[in-house]
Amino acid sequence: MKLQDFYHFFTFLPSISYIQDQFLTQCDRMACHMNVMPEKCECCITEESINMTALQYDLDTKFFGQHLAKQVILKVVNNNKRIKPLVLSFHGLTGTGKTYINQILAKHFNPMGTKSKFVHKIMASFPHRSQIDTYKDQLHAWIRGNVSRCERSIFLFEDVHDIQPELLHSLKPYLDYHDHIDGVSYRKAIFIFTSNTGADKISDFALEFHRKGKKREEIQLLEVQKMLSSYLLNSSNSEFRNCDLIKKNVIDIFVPFLPLELEHVKMCVRAAYQRQGRTVDEEMVSKIAKEMDYYPKGEDVFSQNGCKNVQIRVELE
Ligand SMILES: Nc1ncnc2c1ncn2[C@@H]1O[C@H](COP(=O)(O)OP(=O)(O)OP(=O)(O)O)[C@@H](O)[C@H]1O
Ligand SMILES: [Mg+2]
Repeated sequence: MKLQDFYHFFTFLPSISYIQDQFLTQCDRMACHMNVMPEKCECCITEESINMTALQYDLDTKFFGQHLAKQVILKVVNNNKRIKPLVLSFHGLTGTGKTYINQILAKHFNPMGTKSKFVHKIMASFPHRSQIDTYKDQLHAWIRGNVSRCERSIFLFEDVHDIQPELLHSLKPYLDYHDHIDGVSYRKAIFIFTSNTGADKISDFALEFHRKGKKREEIQLLEVQKMLSSYLLNSSNSEFRNCDLIKKNVIDIFVPFLPLELEHVKMCVRAAYQRQGRTVDEEMVSKIAKEMDYYPKGEDVFSQNGCKNVQIRVELE
């Protein structure tokens, strides 16, 4: 047996990785507790310490065209007395800012943002149907392990429309009202799902509003949420179909992301110029924004891909 194989053999033994995990946990906790963190050692932050003014500022200046999402997020994260994990589900078309807002939120929940070892991003694609029980075990063990290490762990589940519904529904115990499960408390954990499911419904709703000549900012959150959760619960295309996560109010809030308009795409182009430290050229801003595809045909109200690829387009200029 080569030295490498020997190493792999041992690191794959579950008991060994368990010991390694325990050791790391002890080491982290002790070092953090004694305030003698070794270099590159990150401490778990257990207290809620969101600077709401800073979050509001970021949402006002960096997050475009999403007044509903902004409104919900500001309301829901500002709660120190949570008795269950915070569970949010973001829905909307591609390129409307679901992953982007996750990055902003992660930074406000944890100074290291998505680079923190307590912020976990997972693409919800589990390809083999036949492996569902294994996936369940692995996913549950992964959540349990991470929350044992840091009770304020943040889990970002991306592209939940691709998940096998049974796997999603199996997460209920971790997201629900429980003091603890097998000695682990999930109360301070944060779970955010992002999905394209329901995007067309949100889009139809916004389009109808537009056609009536009403201002987008007049769209009322409750109305869209009601329509969205009913669709998610009942549609055969929904990963949340007939799901206890909705029926038992385990998901705290469904957050609708509206399709973006030309003026929002322009804002994204300006932001992309600024991120590169370049002077904003308004002629180019208009040109790039207008190059995007808009729908419905003939009306050209909403950007087909939101602000996706705007950054790359600006970099090429
Ligand atoms: N509302 C927005 N405000 C500011 N920038 C945005 C917004 N929406 C998208 N962007 C920009 O577009 C990029 C792509 O958006 P993002 O990855 O968040 O889309 P998404 O909604 O997650 O799409 P998908 O459903 O395909 O995953 C972001 O990194 C950001 O730069
Ligand atoms: Mg995304």
